[in-house]
Amino acid sequence: MSLVLDPAAQDLLFREARTANTFTDEPVTDEQVQAIYDLVKYGPTSMNQSPLRITLVRSAEARERLVRHMAEGNQKKTATAPLVAILSADNEFHEELPELFPHFPQAKDAVFGDRVIRENSAALNATLQAAYFIIGVRAAGLAAGPMTGLDFAGVQKEFLDDDHTPLMVVNIGKPGEDAWFPRSPRLGYEQVVTTV
Ligand SMILES: Cc1cc2nc3c(=O)[nH]c(=O)nc-3n(C[C@H](O)[C@H](O)[C@H](O)COP(=O)(O)O)c2cc1C
Repeated sequence: MSLVLDPAAQDLLFREARTANTFTDEPVTDEQVQAIYDLVKYGPTSMNQSPLRITLVRSAEARERLVRHMAEGNQKKTATAPLVAILSADNEFHEELPELFPHFPQAKDAVFGDRVIRENSAALNATLQAAYFIIGVRAAGLAAGPMTGLDFAGVQKEFLDDDHTPLMVVNIGKPGEDAWFPRSPRLGYEQVVTTV
């Protein structure tokens, strides 16, 4: 009763949404990915810095190179998902800041002149955006399979550069047969929320 979001949308995004481990062959199109991005780009980040970058791994050759860097238990699903995305944090996001945060253009150097400060901020905010992205995948009627079981240095060297830090790899598609284990419990409100 306290939520204004339509109950069917609540189910689609959270209650019935699951982390898929198998997928059907149905392709995921660039149009779907664009619709997802154009929705989730409105999720908030510090000073609107928007450091998430998304690498779509589409070719069979690139997929094969990625699978080699995945943990053994993640290889099969990464090899067979209709679409796989590498989510990374752009540590040079400040170059775009005068455009993204026009009422404080000096922030580019005054706040984010230091690389370590940028890396910490990019890691936090790109991870927030990765969460928005996962929910956006669900909003498109698809399932996401985020994974951090991988060789991060290997993925960075193979697909990115020194300015882009990989955060996770996400399998995307319609859930296939036996796509998930039974739902694991979540912590209850009383275990998580304190009031001071
Ligand atoms: C950041 C992140 C990393 C994850 N890494 C892996 C992984 O490497 N391998 C895997 O099988 N599942 C991975 N998972 C899946 C989680 O175990 C799964 O989302 C969680 O148990 C909830 O499952 P449910 O959505 O089906 O309830 C990851 C999930 C997240 C969000």
